[in-house]
Amino acid sequence: MSAKNKAMNYQDINAETIDRWIEEGWEWGKPISHEEFEAAKNGDWDVKLTPTKYVPHSWFGDLRGKKILGLASGGGQQMPIFEALGAACTVMDYSSKQIESEKLVAEREGYEIRAIQGDMTKTFPFEDEEFDIIFHPVSNCYVKDVRSIWKECYRVLKHGGYLIAGTDHYVNYLVDNDEKMIINHLPFDPLKDPEQMKQLQDDDAGVQFSHSLEEQIGGQLEAGFRLLDIYEDTNGEGRLHELNIPTFLAMRSLKE
Ligand SMILES: C[S@@+](CC[C@H](N)C(=O)[O-])C[C@H]1O[C@@H](n2cnc3c(N)ncnc32)[C@H](O)[C@@H]1O
Repeated sequence: MSAKNKAMNYQDINAETIDRWIEEGWEWGKPISHEEFEAAKNGDWDVKLTPTKYVPHSWFGDLRGKKILGLASGGGQQMPIFEALGAACTVMDYSSKQIESEKLVAEREGYEIRAIQGDMTKTFPFEDEEFDIIFHPVSNCYVKDVRSIWKECYRVLKHGGYLIAGTDHYVNYLVDNDEKMIINHLPFDPLKDPEQMKQLQDDDAGVQFSHSLEEQIGGQLEAGFRLLDIYEDTNGEGRLHELNIPTFLAMRSLKE
């Protein structure tokens, strides 16, 4: 690891890495077009939490006047859709470029958005019970501890509010790049295992961590949530996808 990276915490390494991926055309950093915004205003819309499947519209209900937090959901991909559907959105993401894109789309489409460059491993800069919905696409693979994030989600949601979240579920961290050999033990934790850190550096993959179902689902239940719905998804490409082996989860949970 370079001397510079050694000095940085992993969250900053990830923010820098993701900003560079976005410059290189990363799919999850491409904002929606004006046409997509207009179509959403006319009821033609879809959003993703995971690589291939769209989130059922029934998970959202009527979004008019709803206060939505886009957690690690920057990039101008989902918040503009929710704004077009009448919601009031706040987005927090640690990548400066993802936040920039949110502001650019908001200006282009003429709406106000609260866009905060913030680290979700820290206490969220929001009041208790501030939001009706938290939309949280796959992103907690970039943090070591997910339980504290579930607890903060619970704190900032209103009673009756929904957490709509997408997560990895560790299969991708077991296998080699050809997805043929199991090469890693779990948990995949590059801060503990230099060999795993080297794999990430060789792949320019930032700093990523695997998380168990105990952490992803158990952690939500522990925080007080009730799990209402769940579906799995695949990578969208590669051998695991071709074998229809799921590697992601999408969940809808309620703060009663
Ligand atoms: C796969 S993207 C999700 C957003 C994207 N619009 C999408 O739908 O895929 C993962 C996001 O997590 C953000 N992220 C990674 N680590 C973070 C952290 N510690 N705090 C807040 N956001 C973080 C990244 O900047 C990136 O925008």
